[in-house]
Amino acid sequence: MRKNLHILFFLVCSFANLRIDAQQQTVDIDALMHKMSVEEKVGQMTQIDLGVIAEGGICALKNPQTVNISKLQEAIAKYHIGSILNVGCASGTISLDNWHQILNTIHAQNTQLSKNKIPILYGIDAIHGANYTMGATLFPQQIAQAATWNPSLVKKGYEITAYETRASGIPWNFSPVLDLGRQPLWSRFFETFGEDVYLAKTMTQVAIDGYQGNTIGNPYKVASCMKHFLGYSMPLSGRDRTPAWISDRELREYFLPTFETAIKANARTIMINSGDINGTPVHANNDILTKLLRNELGFTGVAVTDWEDIYKLVNIHRVAKNKKEAVKMAILAGIDMSMTPNDFEFTTLLVQLVKEGDIPESRLDISVRRILQLKKDLGLFEKTINEKTNYPLFGCNQYAEASYDVAKECITLLKNKNNTLPVTNEKIFVCGPAANSMNLLNGAWTHTWQGVDTQWNTKGKQTILQALQKKTSIQTTFENIASIDSFYQESNYLAKAIQADKIVVCIGETPCTEIVGNINDLNISDAQIKLIEKLKTLGKPLILVCCFNRPRIISRVEPLVDAILYAYLPSDEGGRAIADCIIGKVNPSGKLPFTYPKYANAFVHYDHKAAEDLDIDFGMNAYQPQFDFGFGLSYTNFQYSNFSISSSTLSNDKIKVEITVKNTGNVKGKEVVQVYYNDLVASITPAVKKLCAYRKLELLPNESKIVYFELSKTDFSFINKDLKRITESGEIEIIINNQKKVINVL
Ligand code: BGC
Repeated sequence: MRKNLHILFFLVCSFANLRIDAQQQTVDIDALMHKMSVEEKVGQMTQIDLGVIAEGGICALKNPQTVNISKLQEAIAKYHIGSILNVGCASGTISLDNWHQILNTIHAQNTQLSKNKIPILYGIDAIHGANYTMGATLFPQQIAQAATWNPSLVKKGYEITAYETRASGIPWNFSPVLDLGRQPLWSRFFETFGEDVYLAKTMTQVAIDGYQGNTIGNPYKVASCMKHFLGYSMPLSGRDRTPAWISDRELREYFLPTFETAIKANARTIMINSGDINGTPVHANNDILTKLLRNELGFTGVAVTDWEDIYKLVNIHRVAKNKKEAVKMAILAGIDMSMTPNDFEFTTLLVQLVKEGDIPESRLDISVRRILQLKKDLGLFEKTINEKTNYPLFGCNQYAEASYDVAKECITLLKNKNNTLPVTNEKIFVCGPAANSMNLLNGAWTHTWQGVDTQWNTKGKQTILQALQKKTSIQTTFENIASIDSFYQESNYLAKAIQADKIVVCIGETPCTEIVGNINDLNISDAQIKLIEKLKTLGKPLILVCCFNRPRIISRVEPLVDAILYAYLPSDEGGRAIADCIIGKVNPSGKLPFTYPKYANAFVHYDHKAAEDLDIDFGMNAYQPQFDFGFGLSYTNFQYSNFSISSSTLSNDKIKVEITVKNTGNVKGKEVVQVYYNDLVASITPAVKKLCAYRKLELLPNESKIVYFELSKTDFSFINKDLKRITESGEIEIIINNQKKVINVL
């Protein structure tokens, strides 16, 4: 039945595609712009929050939500608004029906009141699934997706999110985050694809393809939004929206490539970094927003500000003396749309600036043309919202299974002393703050912005504990001993725990993001350390399960535990996936997409520069991670042999790298074959190693496969001192699993 639905779905998609492509020809943007007043053009560049036009008002919305008709009419008739966003900060996730009521009301009023009948573009943060629609499929957060190293699995998640977001009537998604996760303190680390450029680029490609498909006019696709251009993820202090110091060379080497990949993949919109780089707020930076983004990268889509960021040029960054000056700065720097979002001051000020001759109308035209083109390509001029009945697969089991597949492949086995895992036919004692919490599996952007409210959690999903209790091959007992921040002294847990064969301790981090998620210490909380220390006194094998927003330091407890399953934020199906790893139904195959730090004051990435001369080792090696980038164990073992390279020299052709991988254990498993290179001598100090290719493959016990990679000169390129991407001639060492061979690049 489901299969038939799928076939039907693709037929409907293809038909709808044809229909919309044909109709799109009918909107003449030039003619439309000719009819528009300055006020209407500025309106198109204005995005307000739903709270501005809904009952209850900003941050006080009711659930279900209703639109306040007179406020909406004012927004349309007086301010000609072009876009609305989000679910409203104080309310939780809303039903599919409620979304359709809201959006139908908006579009009906707009049809009556908009002089030129320009549709309103609705945008939302569907960060890991359509997380503001009840019953939608939630996926593991981006950092977990990257840990699968499996782009085709990850892509399905983006396709499903596009489908369910459109099912909610919303055609524009503020996702994916393309900032590189190189600052472990940063509260949005979990929203990234990790620290490595190559892996993040691989995931970027599938994210954009999954969201947008071949055409965003397809009613099952959305326009993606690359976030947050540029350098947002590397605040010097680690605290969100605080200054970053990043040289132009490093911006291009580390932070730009994901955006370049997305732009090449035709990502349609981009959101700007709220912070400042080297003293210039990005919202006022013409070099980044126009010279780099438009002139150099050729981006033709819509650039939207982040939340209230034009005003922040006055009250936070203090580069503008008042809001009017800030609006002028941002528009001249290259902003197309202002996520204003709580009032219409931006709109009023921009109209004034144009009328007073401070901003030419031709500058508005550039942005308005981009916005109208986006609306046209989304098919909004023909049909702003499709019927719910067109989306029969919304929230179906098959989609939940796609989420489960990502969850089971992200989970990373970091330690497994004496084969503590998997657990079979044994009694386990389960405890810890993450053991029985859906919120700690999901993290922020789940039903609410910060994801801490429990009332909106999707019914029927299982926590780690609930999933373990369903397993008949083990006996599970549980005790609520500690929250993240306090240890419950009164509990008599030790008497229960002592009866178990093994103990599973699930620790976590309170869901949070943005400024709310700023922390002063990357170590796990004292209460959780104490919990593990107490349990250790029982002398039972300890299994640690970690559900963190960022790599919280576990170096004090790591020696005390026998096994570690690192689960990231695996979301609604994560409880099942973790339980299946614990009992061995799933053989873990996730690999860390970041370097796991061991000490709170020693963050060094795997692709660091050489720290010291090996001949004069003062024992000061800066690189002492808890676990290496790309690390992850399995319940089986893999043996690498027959490493060969087709040629010892490389000019403008390709070389073929080959290696045989064998599963030498007793269970089937997946391995990620990772290819690194080391540029032995370069004009810019080279990294000790850098990922340049990888492949994930599954092997049965005793099975072996030959894995091939083709590499060309561009795979060894870097940004030189003149900010140009080049490959220098010289020796390059290719490294696979500690085996090395040198080639000569001509
Ligand atoms: C975040 C963005 C988000 C926007 C809209 C901002 O505070 O930085 O990532 O898309 O809000 O909710």
